[in-house]
Amino acid sequence: MTTPLIAVLGSINMDLVTTTAIRPAPGETVLGHDFTMVPGGKGANQAIAASRAGAKTMFLGAIGTDVFAPRLRAVLTESGVDTTCLRTVEGPSGIATIVVDDSGENNIIVVGGANTAMTDLSTADLTAIAAADVLVCQLETPLATVTAAVHHAHVHDTTVILNPSPVQHLSDELWDHVDVAVVNTGESEHLGGVLDRVPHVVVTLGADGARHRGPDGAHTTVTGPVVEVVDTTGAGDTFTGALAVRWAQGPATALRFACAAGSLATTTLGASAAIPWRTDIDAVLEQ
Ligand code: RIB
Repeated sequence: MTTPLIAVLGSINMDLVTTTAIRPAPGETVLGHDFTMVPGGKGANQAIAASRAGAKTMFLGAIGTDVFAPRLRAVLTESGVDTTCLRTVEGPSGIATIVVDDSGENNIIVVGGANTAMTDLSTADLTAIAAADVLVCQLETPLATVTAAVHHAHVHDTTVILNPSPVQHLSDELWDHVDVAVVNTGESEHLGGVLDRVPHVVVTLGADGARHRGPDGAHTTVTGPVVEVVDTTGAGDTFTGALAVRWAQGPATALRFACAAGSLATTTLGASAAIPWRTDIDAVLEQ
């Protein structure tokens, strides 16, 4: 297998994570167990997942000039992600406030910070997208920039994997340039028939694995290993990054690899802290 070249355009946030037995209802105050800060952001998580799973990975995004910025940059470089296209913009980095309950489920609020400054693509960004085998995007970056990146990838025969999260309305033009959509069940229901425009749709099913629908309409479901869930934050991102790494080997192989990676990502607290390395994924697949 040749090492794939993956460009990830997306967000990078410092996740402020509180753990508690039960997430509070509106207007309710509850006592928590613990608090920690872990680098995250859907884009960074997906880039880290792709790199740790064995791809040569570039991250296209922005950090601020605040106290969190050095740690955000470091988690990318420590994971082997190329940060040539990582910008620093004056002001705060992206922040995510996350509450994780005892079942591992979460609520997340993202304040975009530096991510919102990604209003254009630099020459280096465009070069990275054109040279990549796969472009991976999500929707915590300004939509016009995602649209331009997807169009540029399409023109240069770079496979486009879009994780349309947080879910929102997208133009038909954008959808028509997406090769693979990765959604969870809620996003799939929300988007409905527009997903029919996309040749490959992958729906993540949590503990039940993932389902692929190809251009011929055929469905394949793949299950992952059974694990003890601590925190589901970033599991979908890990799945998406790992899927991109193996996409060239076909959907069945890619889903199996991604399900293993995504499952492992639920076994540790904190998005980037939980993303497995290639050896961990291979070990699970060999069991
Ligand atoms: O998908 C999980 C991620 O969503 C978190 O890391 C948080 O930063 C938000 O972007």
